[in-house]
Amino acid sequence: MRASAGLVALCSLTTAVVGDNAAELWEAGCSAFTLQDSPGVAVAGTAYYPAGALVNITNAFSSISTDTLPAFCRVELLITTNATSGKTANTEVWLPDAWNGRFIGFGNGGWGGGVNVADLGFVAMNQGFAGMSTDTGHSSNALNGTWGGPHNDDAIIDWSWRALHLSVGAGKEVVQQYYSKPASKSYYLGCSTGGRQGLKSVQEFPEDFDGVVVGSPANWMSHLQPWSIHIDLNVLPAGSPQWISPELWTGIIHDEVLRQCDNLDGVVDGIINNPLVCNFRPETLACRPGQNSSTCLNLAQIQALHQIYSTYYETNQTYIFAGYYPGGEQGYPEGLLTPTIEQISQNYYQYFILNDTTWDPTTLNYSIIQAGDESPVDLNAIETNITAYAGPGHNGKIIHYVGWADQLISPGNSLHYYETVHAYMQSATELNIDDYYRLFTVPGMQHWSVNGYGANAFGGASQAAGGTPPLSYDPVHNVVSAVVSWVEDGVAPDYFIAAYYQNNNQSQGVAFTRPLCKYPQNVVYAGGDVNQSTSFSCV
Ligand SMILES: *[C@@H]1O[C@H](CO)[C@@H](O)[C@H](O)[C@H]1NC(C)=O
Ligand SMILES: *[C@@H]1O[C@H](CO)[C@@H](O)[C@H](O)[C@H]1NC(C)=O
Ligand SMILES: *[C@@H]1O[C@H](CO)[C@@H](O)[C@H](O)[C@H]1NC(C)=O
Ligand SMILES: *[C@@H]1O[C@H](CO)[C@@H](O)[C@H](O)[C@H]1NC(C)=O
Ligand SMILES: *[C@@H]1O[C@H](CO)[C@@H](O)[C@H](O)[C@H]1NC(C)=O
Ligand SMILES: *[C@@H]1O[C@H](CO)[C@@H](O)[C@H](O)[C@H]1NC(C)=O
Ligand SMILES: *[C@@H]1O[C@H](CO)[C@@H](O)[C@H](O)[C@H]1NC(C)=O
Ligand SMILES: *[C@@H]1O[C@H](CO)[C@@H](O)[C@H](O)[C@H]1NC(C)=O
Ligand SMILES: *[C@@H]1O[C@H](CO)[C@@H](O)[C@H](O)[C@H]1NC(C)=O
Ligand SMILES: *[C@@H]1O[C@H](CO)[C@@H](O)[C@H](O)[C@H]1NC(C)=O
Repeated sequence: MRASAGLVALCSLTTAVVGDNAAELWEAGCSAFTLQDSPGVAVAGTAYYPAGALVNITNAFSSISTDTLPAFCRVELLITTNATSGKTANTEVWLPDAWNGRFIGFGNGGWGGGVNVADLGFVAMNQGFAGMSTDTGHSSNALNGTWGGPHNDDAIIDWSWRALHLSVGAGKEVVQQYYSKPASKSYYLGCSTGGRQGLKSVQEFPEDFDGVVVGSPANWMSHLQPWSIHIDLNVLPAGSPQWISPELWTGIIHDEVLRQCDNLDGVVDGIINNPLVCNFRPETLACRPGQNSSTCLNLAQIQALHQIYSTYYETNQTYIFAGYYPGGEQGYPEGLLTPTIEQISQNYYQYFILNDTTWDPTTLNYSIIQAGDESPVDLNAIETNITAYAGPGHNGKIIHYVGWADQLISPGNSLHYYETVHAYMQSATELNIDDYYRLFTVPGMQHWSVNGYGANAFGGASQAAGGTPPLSYDPVHNVVSAVVSWVEDGVAPDYFIAAYYQNNNQSQGVAFTRPLCKYPQNVVYAGGDVNQSTSFSCV
């Protein structure tokens, strides 16, 4: 007994010593790290964080404050993006001691300029990837786009694609020199602007990534921005007959949508699983003579709702963008009305397209939309020919997800891009879309993450950082593992199992799990416990 107890003690001591020695070696390697033979890329700093150390970093776009990460080396880079003008971008590469051999890049959001330190920590470090993210060449929060003007093309190009593309090259080089071997494969995760960045890489720089996960991409800027303004104009100004207060949206309108459509998927649970089959009729809410107006809608409000929910917004015989979908009313007050025109959209025209800070969004017309379409600096990522990425020369994979209750970018935009790629690629190649591009719709999920009512935790961008991590890191629960397994093992995801944490708060426990289905399938109740994913199927 004594002897074996001693042996156990000795073994744990030995392990501890070896572990500490290893950490010391990593720490020494981190602080001594310099980058060789990389013109235009300078190491601005390195810092080693032992396992469990406080990581407390804040920039204009992203922040992290935690003491739960494994040991890693943080390398900060200054990358010259235009040598003629001296333009630069700040980029970081985080290198875990316990490296899984892979590289992953992360995207940004809105007009944001700041390294995505949240996903570097909560996705890359926690899953063993060497992670990279860039500030896209400027510093700002997600809403403020004044840096784009007047005609600040160098900054806009960096935000559009250049800073990320150069950072991928620099990041892979850092990985190779730090670990003395290259990353085996390269991945990407991003949502919103991050989704656009991922699609831009697929379209323009197919070699950058082997597999990308894009969420709710803001990839059709020249149509998304006028759509946002158009949606706002349907109900503004506040106090006018057509104005719809937040209380009406989240109260009677949402309730009526649920009354009309919640049971179409077989279960009355407050979640619209397939809004495409919900033909919401707001007329049922029309005010009776003398009825209290906070319990019903006037005719101007009903007309506005028809515009807002129309499956697409058409002007001048031109498809502009998809409308809102029934079911997301809890978020629509935020998306629609602050109660001003959305800052992101106003900034788009004033600073990026028109160089006219006096431009009045209420005068939006078709020629303004065309000015966006024809902008010399391309902010879109809508190319449908992705043969170079998806074809046999590269075999790249795309997992795309979108929340059906997205309040900032209509999920119809995701369907539109997926289907335009589908149509083009089928007509121009022998490839089968299912072999390289799969779209998953998420009932009840709003834009970005950690909001809305529905199973919305599956390892997507910023989810773990926001307190809603995936239930496990296996490919059926974690979208990043799924793209790895698709690229490396040829196992494509057919569905995911996502969790809804009570009040979108992990510490309050899992309220229910649900499958996420591959478009065009949708979640349908099959019978059994409504809180178990196994009670649902994809049809
Ligand atoms: C993190 O840094 C901020 C300043 O950037 C500081 O205010 C805060 O107290 C720090 N948090 C911890 C836990 O040290
Ligand atoms: C780089 O900067 C120069 C000088 O400002 C400018 O003329 C040129 O257009 C820029 N190049 C690119 C690719 O943005
Ligand atoms: C946006 O950023 C600019 C430049 O930093 C700043 O001057 C301006 O006040 C900001 N606007 C808002 C609304 O925050
Ligand atoms: C109308 O209904 C609202 C909400 O139920 C209530 O607060 C308000 O007092 C009512 N107004 C009148 C005039 O009855
Ligand atoms: C942008 O507009 C301002 C104000 O009208 C003008 O002074 C400036 O020259 C314009 N800049 C560019 C690059 O067009
Ligand atoms: C559209 O708006 C722009 C800018 O406000 C204006 O110059 C133009 O005349 C308008 N076009 C039409 C067809 O109304
Ligand atoms: C409608 O589109 C056509 C073709 O792009 C354009 O010539 C015309 O000016 C547009 N009309 C309006 C009212 O914007
Ligand atoms: C589509 O992309 C492939 C690969 O880059 C290219 O060879 C082909 O010419 C493109 N097709 C068209 C019609 O542009
Ligand atoms: C999450 O729930 C815990 C336990 O109820 C609570 O202490 C915490 O403040 C919640 N977090 C947020 C962000 O609401
Ligand atoms: C399902 O979960 C909800 C919310 O946590 C709870 O109120 C309900 O009782 C559960 N239903 C079953 C059948 O367990």
